[in-house]
Amino acid sequence: MTFETLILEKHDNVGLVRLNRPEAYNALNDQLMDELTAALDALEADDSIGAIVLAGSDKAFAAGADIKMMREWGMMDVFKRQFITANWERASRCRKPVIAAVSGLALGGGCELAMMCDIILAAENARFALPEITLATIPGAGGTQRLTRAVGKSKAMEMILSGRPMFAEEAERCGLVSRIVPLADLVQEAVTLASRVAGFSQPVVALAKECVNRAFESGLSEGVLYERRMAYITFGTEDQSEGLAAFVEKRPPQFIHR
Ligand code: HXC
Repeated sequence: MTFETLILEKHDNVGLVRLNRPEAYNALNDQLMDELTAALDALEADDSIGAIVLAGSDKAFAAGADIKMMREWGMMDVFKRQFITANWERASRCRKPVIAAVSGLALGGGCELAMMCDIILAAENARFALPEITLATIPGAGGTQRLTRAVGKSKAMEMILSGRPMFAEEAERCGLVSRIVPLADLVQEAVTLASRVAGFSQPVVALAKECVNRAFESGLSEGVLYERRMAYITFGTEDQSEGLAAFVEKRPPQFIHR
């Protein structure tokens, strides 16, 4: 598979996708989003891959939706082409865990894309913002919803209404990112984390991911009930039998992803 706006690499059980439009700070145009969708489809279909890393360049994860592209569109254009809905949301629908490795700018749609991922690791130079208000538009790829769930109402309101950026330390403090990593180590650290996750039972990892995501879709008692059902399901997998047996027999488990 060849792409023009991203680079797809396989590192054993990890798929690494690097956004690659250096001339435009990785601004997200239709071609890039179509290619990202195709790359994620391919990685999801590949049984040798257990987790995915999405990265940009040192300078930019992505500077948002491509403004030059959007400038040509009126309301009926975005309505008819189902802008965002058509080709932006694949990352949020991945069954396999997706880790965003964010260095440099994650602006607008770039920040929203990172927030569609399951874990965000940030380099020290990461800068998150939803500056759409400066263009007289608003976040349209989930930013008002996901940022609010991640950091709470007051901070989300401030960022969305004023466009104020958040740097890595603040992003870690308020829970938008899981941790900060030195820039030089970021992608390797994300691949190492992804590889660890990918080494566990893939169906059980998928169940765990579903349960965490359920927390954003349901009330507590419904979410806990969902979790309980999923935990019961793990008792039906060969990997869970193996995991428990390996502990008791004091040996490493051999998961077969069933
Ligand atoms: C298209 C972009 C771009 C973008 C940068 N470029 N961001 N092109 N869309 N989002 C292009 C510039 O036009 C320029 O192209 C080249 O990248 C270099 O950018 P400069 O501005 O010259 O560089 P610099 O001064 O270093 O500033 C970098 C920057 C700034 C901070 C990233 O470009 C910027 O603020 N960009 C816009 C960020 C933004 O507002 N994002 C949110 C978009 S709206 P040329 O051809 O001149 O070299 C969105 C969601 C909308 O994401 C959803 C609506 C439903």
